[in-house]
Amino acid sequence: MRKKVTIVGSGNVGATAAHWIASKELADVVLIDIIEGVPQGKGLDLLEAMPIEKCDSYIVGTQSYADTADSDIVVITAGIPRKPGMSRDDLLNTNANIMKAVVGEVVKYSPNCILIVVSNPLDAMAQAAFKLSGFPRHRVIGMAGVLDSARFRTFIAQELKVSVENVTAFVLGGHGDTMVPLPRYSTVAGIPITELMDQTTLDRLVQRTRDGGAEIVKYLKTGSAYYAPSAAATEMVEAILKDKHKILPCAAYLDGEYGIKGLFVGVPVKLGAKGIEQIIEIKLTAEEKSALDKSAESVKELVGVIGF
Ligand code: NAI
Ligand code: 2OP
Repeated sequence: MRKKVTIVGSGNVGATAAHWIASKELADVVLIDIIEGVPQGKGLDLLEAMPIEKCDSYIVGTQSYADTADSDIVVITAGIPRKPGMSRDDLLNTNANIMKAVVGEVVKYSPNCILIVVSNPLDAMAQAAFKLSGFPRHRVIGMAGVLDSARFRTFIAQELKVSVENVTAFVLGGHGDTMVPLPRYSTVAGIPITELMDQTTLDRLVQRTRDGGAEIVKYLKTGSAYYAPSAAATEMVEAILKDKHKILPCAAYLDGEYGIKGLFVGVPVKLGAKGIEQIIEIKLTAEEKSALDKSAESVKELVGVIGF
């Protein structure tokens, strides 16, 4: 049977995710948005590209959650994005209210789906979606670490003039200024990057990764990044639909792992058909652990404000 992915929010991230998912023939896609005509128009436009792309994915746009029924995965990108001068946290209350409007409808029509949350501030929105859905924790996952580590990988590859395919990287913690890129666990063809560049260079790349979202906002001025974010969400969708047992950094609800309880924080997880199959606990130095704790603390503050 064909797989079905619903994308809530047909803006930049949502529509571009639909593009990647359809053109990789991962699933049929339903785009939903509150703005009348936009998901329908983008959906039809994308559908008409399928003969050229030689893909049989079906894409449809709608305002009605009935059309999303029995989705295998629902990706939530609904919300307002950042503008210059805004942090991800400035989006907190508006996007929490959007989450309240969306999650109940999603659950009503797709009670067995896996939720991938993209809206910002990411970890707090994932926590809201988890609590609002009543889903078990393995079926609610936040997208951030795949994006942040892709940015880190890009900068490492550029610096060392190697193929991006040679580079793996891990970024843990919340999707914010306190995120924790981990050079010790980032490698080029298996060689830790700590062996390949000096501390000043490492620090520069780590800081650019932390500022990666803001760097794009500064260029775009009217919104935030969407090509890499939607590609990141698509990698998670693919890992789940193809039951790949793929280890990726994702925001997951921790229940004591890494000494953190009752909070969404970015950690390495194994993704497969059931969603999160395992939370991988890697050994951290005292300094890395303290950076992760600090990052978790800032997520906790936001979660406290919205009461989840
Ligand atoms: P956008 O403004 O292009 O699209 C958002 C869409 O959500 C709009 O079309 C809007 O009409 C829709 N929407 C608003 N309320 C809705 C509701 N109740 N139901 C359905 N649709 C609704 O924004 P963009 O660039 O697509 O970003 C979307 C969100 O994703 C933002 O919160 C942004 O900060 C976040 N984001 C998160 C990333 C991450 O790494 N986790 C990366 C990039 C963006
Ligand atoms: C990003 O990192 C805005 O969270 C978004 O690009």
